[in-house]
Amino acid sequence: MEQKQVFIINGGKRLSGEVAIRGAKNGGLKLMAASLLFEHPVRFTNVPDIADITTMQKLLESIGVMTTKTGDALSIDARKLNATHPSNELVKRMRASIIIIGPLLARLKKARIVYPGGCVIGKRPIDFFINGFKTLGAEVRETNKLTREIYSFSLKENRGGEIFLPFPSVTATETFIMAAALASGKTIIKNAACEPEIVSLAEFLQKGGARIEGAGTNTITIEGTHGKLLALKKKNSIPVIPDRIETGSFAILASLLGDPLRINNCNPNHIESLLLILEAAGASIKKGDTWLEIKAPEKLTAVDITTGPYPNLATDLQAPLSVLLTQSHGRSLIFETIWEGRLNYLEELKRMGANVIVCDPHRAIIEGPTQLEGKKMESPDLRAGLAFVIAGLVAKGTSVIHNVYHIDRGYERIEERLKAVGADIRRADESILRADDNLKL
Ligand code: EPU
Repeated sequence: MEQKQVFIINGGKRLSGEVAIRGAKNGGLKLMAASLLFEHPVRFTNVPDIADITTMQKLLESIGVMTTKTGDALSIDARKLNATHPSNELVKRMRASIIIIGPLLARLKKARIVYPGGCVIGKRPIDFFINGFKTLGAEVRETNKLTREIYSFSLKENRGGEIFLPFPSVTATETFIMAAALASGKTIIKNAACEPEIVSLAEFLQKGGARIEGAGTNTITIEGTHGKLLALKKKNSIPVIPDRIETGSFAILASLLGDPLRINNCNPNHIESLLLILEAAGASIKKGDTWLEIKAPEKLTAVDITTGPYPNLATDLQAPLSVLLTQSHGRSLIFETIWEGRLNYLEELKRMGANVIVCDPHRAIIEGPTQLEGKKMESPDLRAGLAFVIAGLVAKGTSVIHNVYHIDRGYERIEERLKAVGADIRRADESILRADDNLKL
């Protein structure tokens, strides 16, 4: 069995120099699924080297698709797609697996999927997918009625239709775009999500001949190709857009410890709401088209934050931002509107010395500043895991973060990139902790 790993962090160091942002996890995963709609192999670049991308590669391979990763390039050849039921084990590893229903229905008119897993951050229902596909004429069956575990979707005719999403769900919007791209009619998605990853997906499909209008707004119209597979006119590689959550996380870190810190290969326009908050907190921010330079202020000021669908503050940035609020002067209110299980990590920040009151599953108050003390922590999910890394970098003393596999799902070799800008962080096998008497936490 693979050895479990931890991060060991000695906090308090200022950070300076440059860090390059990698391709977006939640962008790359969707492009990979969308390559099922192409009649030829597709090549992507700027693909991050993270566990979720590997899981999606294996998932695609479980239905007959060939994938090849060389450095940051990934080729996907779906010409031999031959199955409608991706591996249960892989689907359970990652919520994003659900999007595979879209291209499978477009290509084979059938999809069978186990209830997807992923980070435990809330209920994560799939009713929008079930109801939306029913509206598009699909028959949806729960194959195992008792456990409600396996869902079968089948379409007699992929004719399109009109869907109103009860909430602008990111993956539901993407799944319906992919299902509609090859339909024999028009699909309109109302109350669609507007995230940059959706625009990137639509642009990729458009390059292959799909007719999509309105991506990036809340009404998206797709005129299907009547079953004709997509083909790129120029066989160029398609770059994955920069990860806006990674960009935002480094921007938060720089606002705490930047001396200054320059963030390259990013798109500052994708985190405008966060930058407003950081400026209000006192950070000094310079920016260009593809970079940011941020210096931490002498004194951070409290700010109220509310997460919401794009272009509002991303829920995936809420946990790292809370660490900043523990260092800000005054009282801040956190209102997490998307997930009801995404404030649990605050208990760990309290143990580190933060002054936090959790009001209900969606709201918390942080009173700052407080000196955080290094502690031993279990990373509960990807984004809270990164928040603990940031907290460890800010804290006095040593922190040990367990379950780093959660962090590796979404951030490529984060410790190496942090070390390069002055952080004292290292990765170690868990067994070292038993051997190292200096790590009494
Ligand atoms: N919802 C339903 N029913 C559904 C689908 C969604 O009620 O069938 C609700 C959810 O419970 C939630 C809201 O709609 O309250 C929004 O969820 P959404 O569907 O937009 O989330 P998602 O598509 O599952 C993506 C990202 C998440 C990110 C959210 C919100 C991917 C693969 N995941 O999830 O990213 O938090 O959008 O922006 O794109 C992460 O990367 O760590 C992560 C969790």
